[in-house]
Amino acid sequence: MRFLLLLPFALPAFSATPTYSKDVAPILFKHCAGCHRPNDIAPMSLLDYKATRPWAKSIRQAVLSRKMPPWFADPKFGHFSNDPSLTSKEIDAIKSWADAGAPEGNVADLPPAPKFIAGWQLGKPDVVVDIGEDHVITPGEDAYEHFTVETNFKQGMWIRAAEIQPGNRQVVHHVHVLLVQDDPKMMEVAGTTNSPTLAKYLLREGKLTRIRADAPIVNDACVANVPDLPYLKGFQEGALASFLPGRPPDVFPEGTAKWIPPAGKLEFVVHYARISGKPQTDRTSVGFYLAPGGKPEQVMHRMDLRNFFLSIPANEANHEVRRCYDFEADKLLLSFTPHMHYRAKDVTYELTRPNGKKEILLAVPRYDFNWQLVYRLAQPVLVEKGSRLKVTAHYDNSPNNKANPDPKLTIRWGDKSEEEMMTSWIEYLDAPAKRTALQK
Ligand code: HEC
Repeated sequence: MRFLLLLPFALPAFSATPTYSKDVAPILFKHCAGCHRPNDIAPMSLLDYKATRPWAKSIRQAVLSRKMPPWFADPKFGHFSNDPSLTSKEIDAIKSWADAGAPEGNVADLPPAPKFIAGWQLGKPDVVVDIGEDHVITPGEDAYEHFTVETNFKQGMWIRAAEIQPGNRQVVHHVHVLLVQDDPKMMEVAGTTNSPTLAKYLLREGKLTRIRADAPIVNDACVANVPDLPYLKGFQEGALASFLPGRPPDVFPEGTAKWIPPAGKLEFVVHYARISGKPQTDRTSVGFYLAPGGKPEQVMHRMDLRNFFLSIPANEANHEVRRCYDFEADKLLLSFTPHMHYRAKDVTYELTRPNGKKEILLAVPRYDFNWQLVYRLAQPVLVEKGSRLKVTAHYDNSPNNKANPDPKLTIRWGDKSEEEMMTSWIEYLDAPAKRTALQK
């Protein structure tokens, strides 16, 4: 067959070998450079040919196995607007390019590289609040720090977006920013561990909180006679904004906003990863973006569903934990963020309508603690009062789980990554009487 290549009419096929400049760079710029750029979370930049060339084989492998870009939703259920998965055509182009020796091609074909704004991804915020100190992180242990700061806002504000900026990306693993409620009734619904009713089940060890070993155990909070323990029913009001590995800033859909009351306080909950070497400092901040026109058509909400009373036996490879939520009013669901730790294996969100019809809204068959992704529904899901959402998660506390820090321990709820959580954040709107632009 080789002689064919010498014939002129074979040339078009020959030139169809994908090149970096023409075929591969557009894919990498669009789907990879958001993380693969200097000073972001990925280990190498994929912004130019020179930097990309040595990685051609690993890139081939990472896209063929669908390890990159990271995405964990089972494609059988639901459609998500932020699904970054490559098409099979894009994967084929990268594969053929790598197999052909990763040619650069004609630089004239190269699209302009994406521009990243240093600092705020969403542009200059209207208001910035920081943790109020240059916080020193000492090597040796991971820590959850809580910083409460006065906003001194003269008037309340409706915000259309909030972006958290870690002060020091090498140490900040994740951050939540919450509104502090002084009213004890509000403390019950806001935040996690401030709640007076929950406090008696908790132990505080230095900067970390966990549930007491003798607290009641409830792995299945979906049974009819679920014990009367904090937050096994209903929901807690979610944070204003969160920063997590791989998660974009919180931008609320058009026509929606969140309210920050005047003279309120903000609580920053910052998880600092364990470091070695020298102490480091951090000054994390949050930027708020005002909603044009003030009061929105719809208030943006986040409900947090948790099961604090889980208990995962030592060596158990497939331990099930459940949490249910019964809708007390119509709601329009916008997104899901599952949050668990090292032993988590999978999680499924199943809705049962009042007429008994079941539907899976999201399934994550291989949960990975390193990625705390948000799954934004391409079409908001309208859920009627009387429906039930069932969250089912499995944990692998056996030695087969490579991420498992210690299979010999019984694991209960705790802040530390070595303990567990079962949390879901669900963004929603109160379903409006009239249909909005969000419900097409
Ligand atoms: C959301 C952020 C993010 C996006 C988007 C992303 N990556 Fe990554 N990538 C990472 C991080 C973080 C690592 C290192 C940790 C790891 O390997 O999981 C990584 C590791 C890699 C590796 C290292 C080899 C390996 O398999 O461990 C390759 C190759 C890679 N990415 C290619 C890509 C390509 C190609 C794309 C786009 C198609 C992409 N990545 C999109 C964050 C990202």
